[in-house]
Amino acid sequence: MIAKAELHCHLEGSIPPALARELALRNGLELPPGLMGEDGFYVWKDFLSFLAAYDLVCTTLRSARDFGDVLYSYLAGAAREGAVYVEMFCSPERPAALGIAYGAWLEALAEAIDRARRDFGIEGRIIIICIRHLGPERALAMARAMVAEPHRYVVGFGMGGDEARFTPLDFAPAYRLAHEAGFGCTVHAGEVMGPESVWAAIRDLPVTRIGHGVRSAEDPALVTELARRGIVLEVCPGSNVALGLYPDRASHPLHRLIDAGVRVTLNSDDPPFFHTTLGTEYELAGLDEAALKRIARTAIEASFADAATRRRLLGEMEP
Ligand code: ADE
Ligand code: ZN
Repeated sequence: MIAKAELHCHLEGSIPPALARELALRNGLELPPGLMGEDGFYVWKDFLSFLAAYDLVCTTLRSARDFGDVLYSYLAGAAREGAVYVEMFCSPERPAALGIAYGAWLEALAEAIDRARRDFGIEGRIIIICIRHLGPERALAMARAMVAEPHRYVVGFGMGGDEARFTPLDFAPAYRLAHEAGFGCTVHAGEVMGPESVWAAIRDLPVTRIGHGVRSAEDPALVTELARRGIVLEVCPGSNVALGLYPDRASHPLHRLIDAGVRVTLNSDDPPFFHTTLGTEYELAGLDEAALKRIARTAIEASFADAATRRRLLGEMEP
């Protein structure tokens, strides 16, 4: 099995329906009506209804332990598929709304990472993400909290949410704070919106990676710029097809981006929502073993883990 690494997966988006049911039961909650269809999977039809379904899944989480169990469960499954490293997008918005202290939430996540390392040998790290449609002030508050309370596993800062709202420049103060404090930075762009959104992100934010970024393929000058700057795309083909960006995997620009010299990685985004997994993304990428190994190495190189951890993981992977 090829050793894999993942840079783009959302904590709550990794919750499979069975785990959502278990969490609801544990917390004495009814599952939100309309969340799951007759087939037992999450119901949504487009990007905004996906974000709404995502929010509904979040309502099954109540305690710091719940968040930790979600992370442990994801790391266990990823390790079974050959993952040696996972960087998880974790938003402090949900625990904050539940009255869980930032430090207590992080400790539950860290305990999950330690337990998964012990049980499966997988390494995990945390990227704090803000939610774009909640606005720049919330983002700045998240960045401030992250910088004020450093944690051994928190290595980066990012942003998801509705790409159509606000501009990257609006979030520059939050990103500047994160960058100046030494955190790696990434941002969702070029997913729902086109190349202009990616141009703005790489112009106005101190990012070395772009979440998705696939719609850059619509602008040859942007593709050249990404390749020239070595900006790494966190590509999630299954997510893009499920959300209707492309009709099928064959139409996805992954191969065109690679051929143009753009550094890419493969990721699952919100796997149960999109009926995928990290292993499935590697399997269905339409790439040979050498190319997949290169992608896994790129993910480690572009990860925000400390240099010693990156060196160790690269050393343990087959060339
Ligand atoms: N949050 C969770 N998944 C997301 C995605 N694919 N795009 C933007 N925000 C997200
Ligand atoms: Zn995402």
